[in-house]
Amino acid sequence: MCGIIGAASSRNVGKLLVQGLHKMEYRGYDSAGIALHQKDNIFNLRTLGKVSLLEDEMIEQRPKSKLGIAHTRWATHGKPSKKNAHPHASGEVNIVHNGIIENYLELKEKLIQAGYTFESETDSEVIAHLLHQHLQSKGDLLAAMHEAIKELDGAFAIAAIHIKDKNRLVVARNKSPLLIGVGLEENFAASDPLALSQLTNEFVFLEDGDIAEITKESYQVFDRKNSPISREVTEIDIAVNAVTKGEYSHFMEKEIYEQPNAVANTIDGKLGDNDVLDNIFGLGSSEVFSKIKRIQFVACGTSLHAGKVGRFWFEQIAQIPCYVDFASEYRYRDPLVEEGTLFVTISQSGETADTLAALRYAQEKDYLSTLSICNVPTSSLARESEHVLFTNAGPEIGVASTKAFTTQLAGLMLLAMSIAKSLNKDQQNRKKLVHELRNLPKVIEETLKLSNEIMNIVPNIADKHNALFLGRGMFFPIVQEGALKLKEISYIHAEAYPAGELKHGPLALVDDQIPVVALSPENTLTEKLVSNLEEVKARGGTLYVFGGENAKIKIERGEYIQMPECSELLAPIIYTIPLQILAYQVACQRGTDLDQPRNLAKSVTVE
Ligand code: F6R
Repeated sequence: MCGIIGAASSRNVGKLLVQGLHKMEYRGYDSAGIALHQKDNIFNLRTLGKVSLLEDEMIEQRPKSKLGIAHTRWATHGKPSKKNAHPHASGEVNIVHNGIIENYLELKEKLIQAGYTFESETDSEVIAHLLHQHLQSKGDLLAAMHEAIKELDGAFAIAAIHIKDKNRLVVARNKSPLLIGVGLEENFAASDPLALSQLTNEFVFLEDGDIAEITKESYQVFDRKNSPISREVTEIDIAVNAVTKGEYSHFMEKEIYEQPNAVANTIDGKLGDNDVLDNIFGLGSSEVFSKIKRIQFVACGTSLHAGKVGRFWFEQIAQIPCYVDFASEYRYRDPLVEEGTLFVTISQSGETADTLAALRYAQEKDYLSTLSICNVPTSSLARESEHVLFTNAGPEIGVASTKAFTTQLAGLMLLAMSIAKSLNKDQQNRKKLVHELRNLPKVIEETLKLSNEIMNIVPNIADKHNALFLGRGMFFPIVQEGALKLKEISYIHAEAYPAGELKHGPLALVDDQIPVVALSPENTLTEKLVSNLEEVKARGGTLYVFGGENAKIKIERGEYIQMPECSELLAPIIYTIPLQILAYQVACQRGTDLDQPRNLAKSVTVE
């Protein structure tokens, strides 16, 4: 993963680069570094830990430069350390890299034989030496980059500077996001427009195989064949307040509380008086939907959980069978594609490597069409899918996904309704759902008020090592999401089970030391769930149950928290909220770095 940034300007760029890195820490934050072109040397500074540590060093050293590159890392090859941090240098070249070079061992061997010595354990260092090697014969950084990338297998976004080029930055892209930011008397490159949000609103998105040279006055893109090519300039305005915490202690907290608005933005303009509007997934989408016989969902992590909830909705509302797969597994099992199957990817970032690779794999198969539900309009996934629904949640900075999940669910409900409409199914239910969806932001707001009640149970969970999460039906993926939230930010081991599975093994874990969190909404499965919870009670377990107005279970050890009244079909969205708050508050109590939990990154752009 990692975030890269580069700048060529008529002003000092050190501060701009570090500010850009801060905004890309969601891509990784185990080490950071910067290389700045100076009169007759390249200033290279690398630090272990977050970008703020690099910033402290920069403030102390105050290097001046008008051309530079910088990097924030999430380790793939080689542990987080100063020497594995980027930029990597080879003679007079410095590079930063995001991605994975799959043939690096083979290249490393050849370069060692050619006399190069390696200082790091990374795959990226081969790029620096390869560039240096080609510079000897080509004498020019751009020409050397053309040659070097021919030898690289894998994913890369690279930015390089050379001592002999005081004005020029060279970048290259293959399967890792990279764009040029077009400024006035200055130009930039970065992994994400967010990194440049205070510098420009004009971006050029590079495509796989592109190389570009960037100076402060201009930029030029070259395609795979080394021919100059013009790529469209896209204007994007990123609200500055969307990338600050404001009055909140953490981005995650802010993003939890943004959910009423975020969900309202997802459904905005998509609903008529009594039905979902036509073609909300793009021109011609309603026509495509009328031919659907199956749905294949593919996603990772939290987004996968959204797909698992979606499956219930599609089978119930649109009455078509659905399959849900881990993106990282899907393309390795030679899936059989049935006629009329719509391929749907779900992703906050739209850059998750496994999800993107699955989409590209699906494009080679006989799917009816491809569709993505995505939060980032400029992402690769959004650009490469035939149909898209943007969730419009605004930038999600906290590593643990919150508003992206609930807006994905709202988007999936819109998709289920749209397909049902195209297939002439379930009109009465759709009419009801239109009204329930409109009311959803209000119910989320009500649910957020449970925060104080949830706070009461936090001390009983924060000091434990394990937790069990139970749900049934479409609430099983919701408890999976709740368990994921708890483990990723509080580091408490949490496992989710469909409650009926307890007696097949996990019941053995139940004692007075393991909190059991359960979702008990009022639906056809309530009685069954209650019987499963009685099994926990009978073994002395402590239950924390979120449920409807009429509690069907009497809790002696633990707590019952009553949820606001809500639509049965949309209840998974509502029941997500207390689990997010619980995980957040437990993590606060344990004092973890919850916006940037250990070992993780927000956008997983490596396989
Ligand atoms: C967990 C989380 C991850 C992501 C996963 C997919 O809180 O955020 O599990 O959901 O890495 O990312 P996207 O949705 O960007 O494809």
